[in-house]
Formats: sequence, C-alpha cells, structure tokens
Amino acid sequence: MIRKMKKEDLQKCGEIYAKAFPIEHWGIDWDPDNAREYLSDYYEQKKFVGYVYEEDDVIIGCIFALSKISGSKKEIYINEMAVLPERQGQGIGTQLLKSILDYSKGEGLAGVVLYTSDYAPAFKFYEKNGFKLSQGTICMYCE
Ligand SMILES: CC(C)(COP(=O)(O)OP(=O)(O)OC[C@H]1O[C@@H](n2cnc3c(N)ncnc32)[C@H](O)[C@@H]1OP(=O)(O)O)[C@@H](O)C(=O)NCCC(=O)NCCS
Repeated sequence: MIRKMKKEDLQKCGEIYAKAFPIEHWGIDWDPDNAREYLSDYYEQKKFVGYVYEEDDVIIGCIFALSKISGSKKEIYINEMAVLPERQGQGIGTQLLKSILDYSKGEGLAGVVLYTSDYAPAFKFYEKNGFKLSQGTICMYCE
C-alpha cells in the first residue's frame, strides 16, 4: 500500500535509493548513509510531499516531491523516486507516481514536473505514464 512518508522512513529510503542507483550504471557512489542524507534535504523542505510503498511494514519504493509556486501557478516537482531493483517492473513505480498525480489534482495544482536524463530507462517509464517533453526548456552547465 501507498502511504505518506514519515521521517523514520528516510533510512530505508536511503537503502533503496543506493541499490536503485548503482555506481556501475549512474557513476555516483551512493551508499545508504549518503543517500539518506541527500534525501533528507528534500524531506526537510517546507513544501515537501512524499510517499512510500510498503508491504507487511517493509518499504519497497519511495517518491520525493516538492510543491512550488510560480506567479499564480502552483506545480509539483518530482525530485527523486526509487523502487528496490528486485521489485522493479511490477507496477510499484506507477502507483507511487499516481500518488503525486492524485495529490496534484486534489490540491488543484497546474501539473507535475520532473527532470530526467535522456539516456535513463526511466524516460520510457514516465512517457508511459503520460509525461511529455517540455518544449522550450534546456539544461545548461558550467565548470
Ligand atoms: C524508474 C522506476 C522508479 C520505475 O518503477 P517500477 O516499479 O519499476 O515501474 P513499473 O513497474 O510501474 O513500470 C511501469 C512501466 O514503465 C516501464 N519501465 C519501468 N522501468 C523501466 C526500465 N528500467 N526500463 C524500461 N522501461 C521501464 C515498464 O515497461 C512498465 O510498463 P509495462 O508495465 O507496460 O511493462 C524504477 O524502475 C527504479 O527505481 N529505477 C531505478 C531508479 C530510477 O531510474 N529512478 C528514476 C530516476 S529519474
């Protein structure tokens, strides 16, 4: 079942995140502790919205989002989501995403926004769930 995230869930979310983003694939050396710290920064934000998926009191997936105001428009931004590798492809990510889409509708927000990499397999997952490429947005970088 899906439920709202609690502070006590962050350690488990860190463990799942570190497993879902292995260094071989993503090039970042996540471990449960640095992942927990990273995710805690989202959790601590005032307009944080997050859910976990659990079975028999065991957390298997999590989603971290933040509602934001832009003029008269309010939107929700998905920052992170992760499902335990051995449980991926079983519809859990879709349920987590739906929890944010439902929240957005329930609060009368304008929509849900997220950033992902074009090489990441999750791109297909988001497309399948109704997300479209935003026109006119580019990502810039400086070293
Ligand atoms: C992306 C992620 C959250 C999706 O959760 P999930 O529980 O695996 O997704 P679902 O089972 O609900 O999948 C729904 C659909 O998306 C597609 N999909 C999901 N993961 C996919 C993947 N890695 N590659 C290609 N397609 C994928 C599936 O085809 C599935 O469609 P189907 O049911 O018609 O086969 C999960 O795979 C994950 O944690 N991945 C690693 C971390 C990650 O990429 N996070 C997002 C970063 S932007």
